[in-house]
Amino acid sequence: MEKQYSNQRRLRANKHIRELASTVTLTHLDFIQPLFVDESISAQTPINSLSGINSETIESALAQIESDLANGISKFLVFPIPKTKAVKDFNFAFVAEVVKKIRSVFGDRIWLALDACLCAYTSHGHCGILHPDGTRVLNHETTSLLAKYSLQLAQAGADCIAPSDLMDGQIATIRNILNENDFDHISIMSYSAKFSSEYYGPFRDACKSTPNVNNVLRNRKTYQISPFNADDAVQSSVRDWEEGADIVMVKPALLNSDILYKLKKIIPVPLAAYHVSGEYQSIELLARHGSLERKRGHVEVWISLKRAGADCIISYAARFAEAWIKKIEY
Ligand code: PBG
Ligand code: ZN
Repeated sequence: MEKQYSNQRRLRANKHIRELASTVTLTHLDFIQPLFVDESISAQTPINSLSGINSETIESALAQIESDLANGISKFLVFPIPKTKAVKDFNFAFVAEVVKKIRSVFGDRIWLALDACLCAYTSHGHCGILHPDGTRVLNHETTSLLAKYSLQLAQAGADCIAPSDLMDGQIATIRNILNENDFDHISIMSYSAKFSSEYYGPFRDACKSTPNVNNVLRNRKTYQISPFNADDAVQSSVRDWEEGADIVMVKPALLNSDILYKLKKIIPVPLAAYHVSGEYQSIELLARHGSLERKRGHVEVWISLKRAGADCIISYAARFAEAWIKKIEY
């Protein structure tokens, strides 16, 4: 008898059978759109290092959200960029105003997550309170301030608090303060597997949050996770889930899809994949040079993140997801 070969190509023969054989699907309902709201600008301003993305004023943010809603996006992750920077006694008035205004205009038509970190507030650019000698970020001081900050975000109308500064114990501390103040219905999305990465470069431009070169502590390696240490990413995520995180996250997502794959197997809460600024921009630059088609470049990444285990995707191109996904060829 003739030797039987496996005939995988039958499942690739035409788009119909490729659709039937697909193991993942994409929907724009899974997408979260980041928004930068900057106190020091007076009109919507393009972010040079992040093609097609703008910093918003409160007014322009409202218009942007209206247009995003029309394009099928209703979930947002807001990054406030305050005008004044300090080392302590930060002024949180601007972010409260941003959240209140957005909430009053859109009510429950949108889901609003707020990035909770101090790096946009600190003059040194680190994500927390520095020891006076400048050698380290203080865990307890940072966590308790972040908890107060989170409470103010909730009081202003945030649906979700997204702490991104990687302090130990911060999820439990934030969960407690929210619960004690009648905000037990507000969720927490933890940047639980956030790696120290060069790929945050464009974002730090936008938020003016790069650690200053004259700092004693030059980079974020004493709080963000080492890309050499996969176990740390897994343990930090399990810990944050046990402390009460409702959503855990991997970031940069594409570079660390092995971690997505691992977390999906062991943590039974939604898993967010943050396709970060540098990952986004590398596709934009390839597209600008004619080396790939922008839309196909992004969609292929999204398929990959889904396959790795992502339940939701944070992408700067989220507002195109509905239109692009409709045109996907299988
Ligand atoms: C702030 C924060 C960062 C990002 C999200 N929240 C930057 C950083 O940690 O330096 C990165 C997002 C991106 O690059 O798209 N802690
Ligand atoms: Zn930060």
